[in-house]
Amino acid sequence: MSGAPLLAAENLVKTYNGAPALSGVSLTVRPGESVAVMGASGSGKTTLLHCLAGIVQPDAGRVRLFRDAALPVEVTALKDDARSALRRRDFGFVFQQGLLIPELTAGENVALALMLGGTERRQAEQAAAGALAALGLAGMEGRRIGELSGGQAQRVAIARAQVTGARMLFADEPTGALDSSTSAEVMRLLLQTVQGSGRALMVVTHDSEVARWCGRVITLADGVVVADTAGASGVRR
Ligand SMILES: Nc1ncnc2c1ncn2[C@@H]1O[C@H](COP(=O)(O)OP(=O)(O)O)[C@@H](O)[C@H]1O
Ligand SMILES: [Mg+2]
Repeated sequence: MSGAPLLAAENLVKTYNGAPALSGVSLTVRPGESVAVMGASGSGKTTLLHCLAGIVQPDAGRVRLFRDAALPVEVTALKDDARSALRRRDFGFVFQQGLLIPELTAGENVALALMLGGTERRQAEQAAAGALAALGLAGMEGRRIGELSGGQAQRVAIARAQVTGARMLFADEPTGALDSSTSAEVMRLLLQTVQGSGRALMVVTHDSEVARWCGRVITLADGVVVADTAGASGVRR
């Protein structure tokens, strides 16, 4: 796909206790792209996603975010505080489970993402209700996470990931705990948030069905990219 990058990684290297998890990964993600990351267990998928998202610092290499095409932010050069702030503002996360706070309601979980960025509570709750309604959860903002089905909880996670206006969404096995029809629905909603929005999605998955719905599939083996191809749903230029 042509056009300006949104996120670019160069030569990422990460070693854990002498064992390489990433051995020189370079890739560019552009607005509008949906990228599946596949590979055997232990191939470095989660490490790559965490390095790209500024959760883990690579030992070498750099990650740049092109919030402004002419003025990229070097994520890997930021101190911890600045990286946390960038994560809250520019990145959205949907993980298999565990990121939603079970004691809070659906609306509070989504509103919290905005409040952490400084939005006032009432305004955050209004925006949260709107984001939930757009994902088919109108009127459910008062339910606690435990009172929702797995698919509904993932929709809350999607709402939370997108309500801040973050342009880069990361998902790690977002459908890993769901049955196949709920998986399809969650993936449809995730991909819908990317289409025509200037956002991009990177989704780690074991599920080749999930990968097929993405525009591009990157395959890792032993910490290196061994394939980077168009998915069934998209044409890569
Ligand atoms: N926090 C960590 N501490 C030590 N080793 C880790 C850690 N995270 C990942 N690893 C190791 O790095 C390699 C890649 O792991 P990971 O990125 O989680 O792979 P995947 O997501 O593809 O299953 C594995 O050998 C794993 O054991
Ligand atoms: Mg993993």
